[in-house]
Amino acid sequence: METIKRIGVLTSGGDAPGMNAAVRAVVRTAIANGLECIGIRRGWQGLINCDFVQLTRESVAHLLSRGGTVLYTARSEEFMTEMGRQKAVATCRMLGLDGIIAIGGDGTFRGALELSRLGVPVVGIPATIDNDVGCTNYTIGFDSACNTAIECIDKLRDTMQSHERCSVVEVMGRSAGFLALYVGTAVGATAVLVPEHKVDFERDVVERIRASRLAGYTHFMVVVAEGAGNAMDIGQKIHEALGISPRITVIGHIQRGGSPTGRDRETATRMGYYAVQSFVEGRGNCIIATQEGSIVEIPIEEAMKMEKHLQMDRYRIMEVMQFGNGQLHER
Ligand code: F6P
Repeated sequence: METIKRIGVLTSGGDAPGMNAAVRAVVRTAIANGLECIGIRRGWQGLINCDFVQLTRESVAHLLSRGGTVLYTARSEEFMTEMGRQKAVATCRMLGLDGIIAIGGDGTFRGALELSRLGVPVVGIPATIDNDVGCTNYTIGFDSACNTAIECIDKLRDTMQSHERCSVVEVMGRSAGFLALYVGTAVGATAVLVPEHKVDFERDVVERIRASRLAGYTHFMVVVAEGAGNAMDIGQKIHEALGISPRITVIGHIQRGGSPTGRDRETATRMGYYAVQSFVEGRGNCIIATQEGSIVEIPIEEAMKMEKHLQMDRYRIMEVMQFGNGQLHER
């Protein structure tokens, strides 16, 4: 890669707490290396529309603790087309952008890969509350979203316990169960339904609530990943099987908002730093990932072929915490 002078940074796909911290780190690292940094607003669509903002050291002050993304975000249909991408390349030429840092999830990186094939160097920073990007152990926003959902469920538990009720709580995660399993384990859920584990309703829900009741509990918490089913339907089936009337809560977009946790701020800062360094040191065309706690750089073509699976030992641990090997534990 030739010496670079100016880079663009954008956020794309669903927002995630910590995206702003990553933007701040990119801008400050760029400036420290004598590079100019241009913010592209509204994700890939902004690159098509030449929708940009100048970013300075000062303009990214106070961003570390802010949720959402000040660059706005979008899911661009147009960028999925060859013509859309050609327009994006034209914007890069017009603005003199030597590379793009794209902050987002899988969809964002598929776009980045296509752009790199058209000759625009890219670096991806994984940020999604779903934690479902194959090449990285961790995505920015996951910890914050888990903590938000945990806080909501802790509050729900107070009222469920007082009224001796069953609660069915749906959490996000797209087609993955990382968020649901983490949250379910952290709140000591009676049952957790994830798409990666084929649900046997009688065994995984009815029997677990029944066993819990037999152990003396009078309130129950069922956590459902959105990819594993609909909380309303599950509540109805519980009613039909056990004669109780569960209350349904879909936590929804609250999980995506709020100030990022320390883990997300710190990870976003390191990832932003290494993303710029990749360009500065003449590489690019990669995804910045975490593997066993360290930050690594994976060539984008290779990264997009990598898969990540829910660790089923964690599912087993969640189960054991409630009833061991089918045996009831003390309350
Ligand atoms: O990818 C993040 C995510 O919040 C998923 O968990 C969820 O399925 C999806 O985005 C919701 O998308 P939207 O905000 O477009 O409704």
